[in-house]
Amino acid sequence: MARSFNTNTDNSAEWLTPPEILRALGPFDLDPAAPVVRPWDMAARHYTKLDDGMAQPWEGRVWLNPPYGRETFHWLARLAAHGSGLALIFARTETQGFHEQIWAKAHAIFFFRGRLRFHRVSGERGGTANAPSCLVAYSPEDSSRLYRAQKERALTGALINLR
Ligand SMILES: C[S@@+](CC[C@H](N)C(=O)[O-])C[C@H]1O[C@@H](n2cnc3c(N)ncnc32)[C@H](O)[C@@H]1O
Repeated sequence: MARSFNTNTDNSAEWLTPPEILRALGPFDLDPAAPVVRPWDMAARHYTKLDDGMAQPWEGRVWLNPPYGRETFHWLARLAAHGSGLALIFARTETQGFHEQIWAKAHAIFFFRGRLRFHRVSGERGGTANAPSCLVAYSPEDSSRLYRAQKERALTGALINLR
């Protein structure tokens, strides 16, 4: 049976950001939650689970598509405190974590039109995700990047500025 991610509780899943999203929004200085084996770079520097990206210093503009599950929002809290970068997560907008780490702290949220298709570590594109996704900006500069990408039609969806 093909592996898919129906929930956000499967920590073993290695689902990678579609590279066109990284191209539209990069370059990034650091991906603190990167696969050990990866078909492309997400940022100039990467931390993997072998380093434990949460235990490392974060520098520069961060790309964060964090591990799924309960720990997701610890990573978001770290990015909010860091204050530079973008996160890609499921748009489960009603959850406690989304309220505490995104609605209360983010500068902007971009809601994708349609569902994304994430990639396997081989680079192969997987099936359609079973939840909607959004991008979260934690600085005015990162909010501007979302605005530009939308204006240039590199991303399709709706941008909401929060502060
Ligand atoms: C949803 S995937 C996203 C991968 C990549 N950031 C991207 O945007 O394509 C989350 C990644 O976090 C990695 N990961 C899990 N625990 C980690 C940890 N403690 N430190 C660093 N990376 C970790 C996983 O191995 C997985 O590759």
